[in-house]
This record gives sequence, structure tokens and C-alpha cells, in this order.
Amino acid sequence: MTDFLLVGGGIIGLGLAYELSRRGMTVTVVEQGEWGGQASSAAAGMLAPLKEFSQPGPMLELGMKSLELYPDWVEQLEAITGIDVQACKSGLLTVALTEEEAIPLQEKYKRQKASGYAVQWMTGQEMRRVEPLLTEEAKAGIYSPEEGHINNRMLLNALVAACRRLGATLVSGSVVTKMAIEGSQVVGVETTTGPLRAAHTVIASGAWAGIMVDWLGFSVPVRPVRGQVASVSSSGIPLRTVIFGTSGYITPKLDGKIVLGATEDDAGFQRHVTLSGLSRVLDGVMPYVPALHSAAFQQAWAGLRPATADSMPLLGPVPGWQGVSIAGGHFRNGILLSPVTAKVMADYLESGREEPLQPFLPSRFLGSTMSK
Ligand code: GLY
Repeated sequence: MTDFLLVGGGIIGLGLAYELSRRGMTVTVVEQGEWGGQASSAAAGMLAPLKEFSQPGPMLELGMKSLELYPDWVEQLEAITGIDVQACKSGLLTVALTEEEAIPLQEKYKRQKASGYAVQWMTGQEMRRVEPLLTEEAKAGIYSPEEGHINNRMLLNALVAACRRLGATLVSGSVVTKMAIEGSQVVGVETTTGPLRAAHTVIASGAWAGIMVDWLGFSVPVRPVRGQVASVSSSGIPLRTVIFGTSGYITPKLDGKIVLGATEDDAGFQRHVTLSGLSRVLDGVMPYVPALHSAAFQQAWAGLRPATADSMPLLGPVPGWQGVSIAGGHFRNGILLSPVTAKVMADYLESGREEPLQPFLPSRFLGSTMSK
């Protein structure tokens, strides 16, 4: 019997397990495959709330809060584990190649600037001073100097090591087959490797969260959205800044890779890379950095993002049950939102206060007829 059982060993489950362990709780994490083996390791590792959330509002606030938490989170993890997670405040350019593309971007810039966010409007020439490898075709765009990226695979390694160091029990290769229930209380789960019991169970199983919550008769709309991604070597391409175009992004990492993404495919739970997906990714990014045409191809891969019907995460108790919560539905932003999710969920699990989780409470979908 443990205080908390985390179902899912991705960036969200491990992040929360780390935070709860740090606060002195006993924690078990169960993962069906490898640690972070799904969307968490497939991600490009961008820390880019201003790019991802155009409108000022709860998602942008949540994302900015998480970005603020990152330096301390990284410092703690690096101090505990000695693992360099390669955090980099590279800045990010969102680029318009035509006057027409610049119009909605300028609207977004004005909204974010008026709300006090650190964004700058730049001409093509100004952007090329920030990033000399940007195409001469760039007309205008937004520069956000506070955004950047992290090596998500190293971050996962650090979280696993930190959880172990703090005494958490980590069980991988174990598939959860059902929830263990006594009356209206969830008391843990049954797995292919035996029962696991906890005072409180948190479902943090990414694209699979909807299936598990369904077992409790709560139909919460979480669906997988496949992202196909490729990487090339940065050798001879000294790119510094993350670049977003209208249908893709280019992320220069500190480990010698440039990560290029990403499709958004409705392909159920299929995780394979398709030739048309790969070609869409490459066509989407090459116009922005001509040097990419001669880059050495390394790898292509895909992951399943957990999408909700309103594109907001699910944070808080499963309605109608005691002893069970969800931390999921982070869609394109699990890496970015891991520290803030760990903090707000750990606060809730310690205090029982749901109100700070508004508007992300799963109960917003009670009685919903939205399809998965
Ligand atoms: N965060 C970028 C993506 O999901 O493709």
C-alpha cells in the first residue's frame, strides 16, 4: 500500500511522482512499456507557450507558469541526478513568408503584447539578424526571446533517476487491466504482474487515459493525435533559434540534432511513420531554412498526443469516485506543462482543494455528448 499510485510513466506521471516524492509521500508508478516510451520521448521538447497558445487566457497562463517553473525544476533535477537535461532558452521565431501570412501573426502579436508578454514584432531583416540561417523570403514575424527547448529524453532519464533516488517504486512492463474498486472508492489497479494498492490513484496514461476513465463509467473525450517527426544532423547547419512556419517547426537541439515536426494525424493508435507524413513534415519546414535541403537525415518517428475535446488538459478528480484523479490530455504540450501539472496536482492531492484546478477539472465533461 502506497500513498499515491501513478498509472503511466510518461512526463506527466513521472513529473507528478517526483513532486509527490519530494514532498515526502510514498509513490508507485506503473508503466505498460518503457519509461516515457510514448509521446514523451517522441516530442520535440519545445518550451513555447507563446507559440502554442495564441489567445491570452487559461492555457497561456498555465503554459507561462510552467515556463517560469522550469529553471528551478531543471536545477533540482540536475542537482539530484547529475544528468544534464540540456535546457536552452534559444528564443523562438514565428515566421510569415508572405504579407498575407503576416496579417494573423500581427494580430496575435498585438494581443500578446497588450497582455504584457515578452514578444517583439520583426521585419525579415531583423529576424535574420537573430537567426542568420532563416530564408531571405521571410517577410515578418514574432520573436519571443524567453522560449526555448529541453532534451525531453534526458529529462525523462532525470525524472526516473530522481524518483528512484527519493524512494519511489517504479514498475515498468506491467499493463493495467482494470481498476480495483471497493464501493465508490478506487483502491488501486490490477495489472498483468499483480495487484497494486494505493490510497489515491492518478491516471496519467496519455492517449490511453480515456480508456481507463471509461472503465469507471466516465466518458471523458481523450483521443490520440499522431505527430510524425524527423531529425537531421546539425553538422554544418549552426541554427540557433526555434523556427515556426505555418505548417511546421525546426528545433535545433544541444545534442547535435535538428528536430523537424510535426503532423497532426487522426490515425487511432497507429504509431508508424508514413511516407506522406514524412514528406509533409519536410515540405513544411525546408522553405524556412534553405540549408536544410542538404542536411544529413537521421531518423523519423511518431508519437500519440493525448487530445481532449476542448484542447485543455484534465486535472483533478474523476467525478463520482473517491481515491482517483486524472492528470492528462496535455495534447501538444506535455513536456512544457509537466512542472506546473506536478505542482497543481500535488497541491490538490495534499489539500483536497479542487478550486485552484479550475477550469481544468474533468467534471466539465460530465453529461457531455462529445464523441471521443
Ligand atoms: N509540441 C509540438 C508538437 O506536439 O508537435
